Amino acid sequence: MRVAKITRLLLCLALLAFVIPAGAQRRANTEQKIDALLAKMTLAEKLGQLQQLDGHADGRYKDEQPQLVRSGLLGSTLNVRGARQTNELQRIAIEESRLKIPLLFGFDVIHGYRTIFPIPLGEAATWDPATVEKSAAIAAKEARAAGVHWTFAPMVDIARDPRWGRIAEGSGEDPFLGSVMARARVVGFQGNDFSAADKVVACAKHWVAYGAAEGGRDYNTTDLSERTLREVYFPPFKSALDAGVGTFMSAFNDLNAVPTSANSFTLTTVLRGEWKFDGLVVSDYESVKELINHGIAANEKEAAAAGLNAGVDMEMVSRLYNKYGADLLKEKKLSQATLDEAVRRILRVKFRLGIFEKPYADEARERESIFIPAHLLATREAAARSMVLLRNEGNVLPLSKNLKSVAVVGPLADSQKDVIGSWTGDGKPEDAITLLAGIKSKVSSNTIVSYAKGCDINDDTTSGFDEAVRIARESEVVIVAVGESAEMSGEAASRSSLDLPGRQLDLVKAIRATGKPVVVVLMNGRPLSINWIAENVPSILETWFGGTQAGNAIADVLFGDVNPGGKLPVTFPRSVGQVPLYYNHKNTGRPPDANNKYTSKYLDLPWTPLFPFGYGLSYTQFKFTNLQLSAQRIGPEGRLTVTVELENVGQRSGDEVVQLYIRDVSASVTRPVKELKGFQRITLRPGEKKRIEFTLGPEQLGFYDSAMKFIVEPGEFKIMVGSSSEDFIEAKLEIEKP
Ligand code: NOJ
Repeated sequence: MRVAKITRLLLCLALLAFVIPAGAQRRANTEQKIDALLAKMTLAEKLGQLQQLDGHADGRYKDEQPQLVRSGLLGSTLNVRGARQTNELQRIAIEESRLKIPLLFGFDVIHGYRTIFPIPLGEAATWDPATVEKSAAIAAKEARAAGVHWTFAPMVDIARDPRWGRIAEGSGEDPFLGSVMARARVVGFQGNDFSAADKVVACAKHWVAYGAAEGGRDYNTTDLSERTLREVYFPPFKSALDAGVGTFMSAFNDLNAVPTSANSFTLTTVLRGEWKFDGLVVSDYESVKELINHGIAANEKEAAAAGLNAGVDMEMVSRLYNKYGADLLKEKKLSQATLDEAVRRILRVKFRLGIFEKPYADEARERESIFIPAHLLATREAAARSMVLLRNEGNVLPLSKNLKSVAVVGPLADSQKDVIGSWTGDGKPEDAITLLAGIKSKVSSNTIVSYAKGCDINDDTTSGFDEAVRIARESEVVIVAVGESAEMSGEAASRSSLDLPGRQLDLVKAIRATGKPVVVVLMNGRPLSINWIAENVPSILETWFGGTQAGNAIADVLFGDVNPGGKLPVTFPRSVGQVPLYYNHKNTGRPPDANNKYTSKYLDLPWTPLFPFGYGLSYTQFKFTNLQLSAQRIGPEGRLTVTVELENVGQRSGDEVVQLYIRDVSASVTRPVKELKGFQRITLRPGEKKRIEFTLGPEQLGFYDSAMKFIVEPGEFKIMVGSSSEDFIEAKLEIEKP
């Protein structure tokens, strides 16, 4: 046994001895090649590398682009895609430009390229990094086959305000969950070498704090302490970086009086200085030019200087670096070293992508690898895993496949364009399976399935109610699909209300009044305040926007082929008036107390959420027992193991997400009332019991002190393990003085 161990260790060491120098050698070779190129490049060619321009929405390049490429004045495009289009433009770069530097083709592959997966918020609700990694890997495979090298994803912005439409594009409110998902996506997109034929380079965006937009209004100002940045907004970016992310995107927002596309603290001090990031930073769409609107640059030339000097290497769409680069150099407002460094970072990413050696996409590969059955199966599974059962009183769910009749009602029940969500890459609504289609293929051939839209998503007409009520009365069960349209979340899609838009709630009320068993299926890109539904409808399934196979996946869950096990990655408030409402808040000096007016609460609303972070039910039940710490006391450098027993005490196989939270009870600075520090999604058969283990150490127990030094302080901690941020068993831990 020991001999085997030692042999394994020696083998590992031998491998490392070989791998480390090989990696270092490769890096040194790349830098030499970049040096050689830089020595040959004219100023115009250098500035050309810093320029990214947009193609047409349908993937074609624009008329002016071939000539720009030929002259070495364009380094990258976005939205140009498809093997033919990218190859045509690339051929000009490789065969007709002086230095033959390949173009870098970027595209927003957010939740799938052609095969569309659930929106990222939905994927986060799987609490399953393996599923998320697989979805990103499939997206990468399809995108690279279509000539795309670079995805502008993952969006790793923490969002504590559901009014912000882009909450749909991220992993919700929590830095720990967000960090796990960031890693999974980066690894899925890039693998361990993004030069591979089925990988793309990822982009951690939007650096940084874009999700903290005041009032939840997109593009709005942010003003946050360094502590909040380091504890809440930075961690998912750091996690992406640790997973090897090749690029970052600066953001649109002002941050503490310095817009993020000109912020040298975040772009240079933290990202390049502390974190040693050596890839490229691209601006967001015209965010360099927008520095003028922010009022930090008096004109275009000042905007160019501000962006480039702060550390934004590539300019997306606006062309100020190119227009003013030469003047800035002459006027000494930009140094040659800064310019060369920006070019170097861009070339480095191009070398790492392997596109100097293999610049072209393979059209045959494109035909074979996009929208294939294995990908459809993967998105169906991911969508089913993303669903969160919010309520199931009286066990209406799961439904029998042998129902005599089922009525499918609601404006989202048969909408192909909505069910795939916003920002769908090269996805096509006509590929999508709606809920109605999914149900029809699930039930037995004797079941009568009737459908009525009832109303639109967002207008005032109720003329379809009668028909919806009529089919509801004639059916054994009614499934009502309500929520938001796809365009109601995503970029530039902030809402001031979290209520169901239009007359949808009235439709649900009318259906409920029939007395038939009702299931509400929600489709939405943000938490919704569905208070009436939560109180009056026995069964509610949150399905987000589930992607190409959403309808099949929802039917899998409604009819019990899949037992739902997703959990909310974000708090659902009772009212927009409670926002921001997140589980890992501070305690205040006067925590809410129902019997004391002078405590922190509302006169007209409970202080609690409608559904808390981490919440989600199953068709089976789980029991947590026997929470144990391997040590009751440890030193600040110490580690411990936390174990708990989880038992499936219900009648079906199912998944529980075991969640571990900590609370530092008293410290030199105030700490959140709870912080997620570990989770595992576990599948158990009925009656099965499993011991689940977590490790806690300084990384989990530490925090930034008042001097912004990361430390572990002596004192008491609560350790909480359970099925949501509100439902857990707990134990005490003491950190002793060293
Ligand atoms: C603006 C968005 O903010 C960003 O996320 C996206 O990648 C770019 N546009 C390019 O489409």
